[in-house]
Amino acid sequence: MTKYIIEGGNRLEGCVKISGSKNSSLPIMAASILSGKTTKLYNVPNIHDIEITLQILKVLGCNVKKNSGKITIDSSKIESNEIPQLLMREMRSSVIMAGAIIGRLKNATFSYPGGCEIGSRPIDIHLNGFKKLGINIEEEGGFIRCSCDKIKGAKIHLDFPSVGATENLILASVFAEGETIISNAAMEPEIIDLQLFLNKMGAKVEGAGTNTIIIKGVKRLKDVSYTVMPDRIEAGTFLCATAITNGNIQITNVEPTHMTPIISKLRECGCRIKTGKDEIFMQAPKRLNPTQIKTMPYPGFPTDMQPIFGTILTTARGTSMVIENIFESRYKYANELIRMGAKIHVQERTAVIKGVRRLKGAEVFATDLRGGAALTIAGLNAKEQTKVNNIEYILRGYENFDKKLNNLGAKITIEKGE
Ligand code: UD1
Repeated sequence: MTKYIIEGGNRLEGCVKISGSKNSSLPIMAASILSGKTTKLYNVPNIHDIEITLQILKVLGCNVKKNSGKITIDSSKIESNEIPQLLMREMRSSVIMAGAIIGRLKNATFSYPGGCEIGSRPIDIHLNGFKKLGINIEEEGGFIRCSCDKIKGAKIHLDFPSVGATENLILASVFAEGETIISNAAMEPEIIDLQLFLNKMGAKVEGAGTNTIIIKGVKRLKDVSYTVMPDRIEAGTFLCATAITNGNIQITNVEPTHMTPIISKLRECGCRIKTGKDEIFMQAPKRLNPTQIKTMPYPGFPTDMQPIFGTILTTARGTSMVIENIFESRYKYANELIRMGAKIHVQERTAVIKGVRRLKGAEVFATDLRGGAALTIAGLNAKEQTKVNNIEYILRGYENFDKKLNNLGAKITIEKGE
């Protein structure tokens, strides 16, 4: 168990470069399976979840090379159609590989992703969509076997605009016979990135970014080089870390249009924000105003930012309210923040947060990726020392988190555990 030791009370000031998007890299790396050719990806973040994805690709038979932010995947010799259970448990979003494996090989075996730290993660929307595409599904002993002779284009209406299901069904439809129309699709920017990548590889996908996506089946794909979009949640995390330390920041390699719901709420809290083509400047006020946030599918306020934004509201001047509409167990960080002096009352999907002047240092435990980032930025505000245990969660999704924060003036050291 490795921990961050944080000496709080330093304003963040300076410039930080945002890494490539985790949630965009994962489906794009899965999509590389489809081509049977070589994929070169740039701006891929150096984080644990990418390592797991590379391991899965290797087990399937891909030849992969990684050199800093550049990844090369040669999928010409795919041999296996099975995502190993251990790796599936390591990273539940590996279910996204299923659509690409079925698309390429017409069969795939994987295990149930199971529950996770932020709530149950059912895959019924993915599987119902696969069935519509003519894919047979057998479930046995926690394993799911998908098979078909050919994938047939279909009209698929999603019960909920699930990000993963939208991506999985796009991947499974790339080689389908005829046309697939996904309605009530998720509209997240990561889906636009996947469409841009697939089309550069020779696929015919349109509509990403709207709620209707049309995929016209193609027969083959080609080699491709692609630069992954910036990570909007990492960018939001640095803005919030600056907000809670009354700091002043410039963020580069960011797409401001992806940040609209986050920027709008930070402005309500009193932050002065200017955006450029690929940069954001933010000056935080002496004390934040309270506000209300309600998580929603994009373009609503992102659930991944809820723990982080909830944390900055603990020091606002007044009472704020947070409503979590996407994942039911996303308030575990709140109990840890209470140990740091925060005043939070959680009831079901709602948290009422009464702002205190300043948090107090304490020993706390990260319970998931974004909750871990939230506790770290709480530590930046707190009087005295904060220890954040289980930072392995944070390393899953943030590249050089402590180094980037320290470059802005934070004081974080790492204590290695057994
Ligand atoms: C993705 C993101 C995650 C983000 C989430 C919501 C990746 C790797 N992860 O996760 O960071 O928090 O979008 O923006 O991109 N659901 C079902 N049945 C299904 C699928 C989903 O009921 O078959 C429900 C989930 O339980 C959840 C909601 O739909 O309540 C949203 O989940 P979904 O959009 O699928 O999230 P992920 O793709 O897993």
